[in-house]
Amino acid sequence: MPRQQQTFRRALLAAALATAASAASAQQVNVICSVQADWCNMIATVYARTTGVKINLALKGSGEALAQLIAERDNPKTDVWFGGTGDPHLQAAEQNLTLEYKSPTLTQLYPWAQQQAQQSGYRTVGIYSGPLGFGYNTELLAKKKLPVPRSWADLLKPEYKGDIQVANPASSGTAYTMIATLVQLMGEDKAFEYLKGLHKNVSAYTRSGTAPIKAVARGETAVSISFVHDAPQEKMQGFPVETVTPSEGTGAEIGSMSIVKGARNLEQAKKFYEWALTPQAQAFGAASKQYQLPSNKATVVDPNVPDFKKIKLINYDYKTYGASAERRRLIARWEKEVNSLPR
Ligand code: G6P
Repeated sequence: MPRQQQTFRRALLAAALATAASAASAQQVNVICSVQADWCNMIATVYARTTGVKINLALKGSGEALAQLIAERDNPKTDVWFGGTGDPHLQAAEQNLTLEYKSPTLTQLYPWAQQQAQQSGYRTVGIYSGPLGFGYNTELLAKKKLPVPRSWADLLKPEYKGDIQVANPASSGTAYTMIATLVQLMGEDKAFEYLKGLHKNVSAYTRSGTAPIKAVARGETAVSISFVHDAPQEKMQGFPVETVTPSEGTGAEIGSMSIVKGARNLEQAKKFYEWALTPQAQAFGAASKQYQLPSNKATVVDPNVPDFKKIKLINYDYKTYGASAERRRLIARWEKEVNSLPR
């Protein structure tokens, strides 16, 4: 083959390879996933199989995810933030870290999920909801001759000293939901007095919101402050775990999803986002044994999803407690006045 022809062929091949490579790189979405790993992995696998689009997952708690988006602000590496409590998603919206996007699917969602979208200027959307409560190990309580705690007030009793775990609000949306709930229930100063009292009984503040219920399940601690919907999967594995919601009232999260502003794979990000709002996609929550209430009204509700009608819920003010300044201030106050105290 004449040399000129060879060069031409090589150039053609190189061009074809380059096109294939750029097509492949467009066929991916970078997702920060703030629900439990099984759900994240399931949606990533199913989505890749059904669409050919690869999902690159990073698993992060709600507070950590927000910190990452702030750190990446000038050069975003994330396209979609899937799940995690709603307050940090609202904070990301306020800080212009996420993209305004009005999904055509919004009208299919429950009012609380739509309200989350409206309150953020359509920069986030509710994908699930779940109430905060207490988890407890029935065998450990019986062994220690401890009663089941039924109220926030009960958790301050000296008999629970060293037997309660809750997450750290800086990294965990679950723990921030607890602080915001207490502030709304009691007023801020009383809530901080309460948190100081609780501190005496807490053995560890974990990084992740689900670590305390897992510690309860494994008998490492008797009581946790956790989302109620995180307990059934532990029970299904045979662990002696039950839950209760406090008699004074409790808060609920609106787990949310946002598209990152400046997303490199924007078109794919929107396609993934739309898919995640469908009843078929939302069913992967319960399929991976995570029992939040899904936001699409047409998603089949698993019998393990907590019955909201039986729970005394406060009228949680998502807008106020999702505001950047408020969240930052409350967490800083907790660090200074509570976490720094000896136990
Ligand atoms: C678990 C719950 C979710 C919640 C998330 C928050 O995965 O099932 O409903 O949104 O925890 O995690 P974090 O670590 O931020 O408390």
